[in-house]
Amino acid sequence: METVVSGIRSTGKLHLGNYFGAVKNFVKMQHDNNCYFFIADYHSLTTHPKPEDLQRNVRQVLVEYLAAGIDPEVSTLYIQSDLPEVAELYLLLNMNAYVGELERSTSFKDKIREQKDNVNAGLLTYPVLMAADIIIHKAHKVPVGKDQEQHLEMTRTFSNRFNRMYEVEFFPEPVAYNFGESLIKIPGLDGSMKMGKSESGNNAIYLSDSPEIISKKVMRAVTDAGPTEMNQKMPQEIENLFVIMKSVSSNDMVEHFQNLYNRCEIRYGDFKKQLAEDVIKFTEPLREKILELSADDTYLKKVVKMGAEKARESGRKTVSEVREIIGFNPR
Ligand code: TYM
Repeated sequence: METVVSGIRSTGKLHLGNYFGAVKNFVKMQHDNNCYFFIADYHSLTTHPKPEDLQRNVRQVLVEYLAAGIDPEVSTLYIQSDLPEVAELYLLLNMNAYVGELERSTSFKDKIREQKDNVNAGLLTYPVLMAADIIIHKAHKVPVGKDQEQHLEMTRTFSNRFNRMYEVEFFPEPVAYNFGESLIKIPGLDGSMKMGKSESGNNAIYLSDSPEIISKKVMRAVTDAGPTEMNQKMPQEIENLFVIMKSVSSNDMVEHFQNLYNRCEIRYGDFKKQLAEDVIKFTEPLREKILELSADDTYLKKVVKMGAEKARESGRKTVSEVREIIGFNPR
């Protein structure tokens, strides 16, 4: 049985990108693998949330993980900060992570552009904490979207470096995983290449968005003036809408609109109306479960407690062994 670790930052509600990139198909893996799903609340501190926002966001991600079908009895579903051993492993790994390699990470370069007045050390060492999250359970596979590929490469670097440094075969080499297919990137509605929480304006569709909001967002999605030549190449913003449609609609529906596009007969109003309808239909069961679970505090508390216990059992063992390898007293 292989070990699988997946995380989502608690910086807000989950959007379709998070769902398709890191949750949907992986719910299926639960029964055949040793799965850990966690809410990365330490990571969310890089944006300096207020305590009440932090708590609300953690709860929201927990509810949405459960609504998507993660079974806390089968998998280990936990909050990152309930496993403080991860902070110790992060500290230990930081000693052999080099500033130069951290500065070269694309996500760090993006962040210093996005949050110029808050370039904290947590942003620089973000990939080290992420590596600690993964290797604390000695994971083999990490279900993630395309944007996390480089972080996984860095995780392998840190694991291998640790093994080499202490001449051990301790940490496995975890790989970014998507059922043997290439990693997924769901684009935004605003013509940008990625649906994301930190993108501004009309970019993301959230799992908890109401049908009215979904309709409004999709109808406002960026489009061009329309094709003028048969079979012409699609501009990015139109291709993006087709990528979203492929994830929620039937193949026949996608093909129908692709044919209309190729014959220059597409009417974007109809196309978007259909897309909105299909997104609404797709997200409806999730939305219902989100509402139901949100009202059940007792159950959520039970899940959190159970998850913390299971995660700590595995995390403590790894960190104790790491301490011993390094030369500290084991725990
Ligand atoms: P976060 O919270 O930004 O995203 C969570 C997961 O969703 C995926 N994702 C997408 N996939 C496809 N298309 C998109 N538009 C899209 N947007 C986001 C991300 O690839 C990710 O898998 N650093 C992580 C959280 C994390 C983590 C970990 C993940 C911390 N430690 C350990 C895995 C293992 C992050 O910021 O994800």
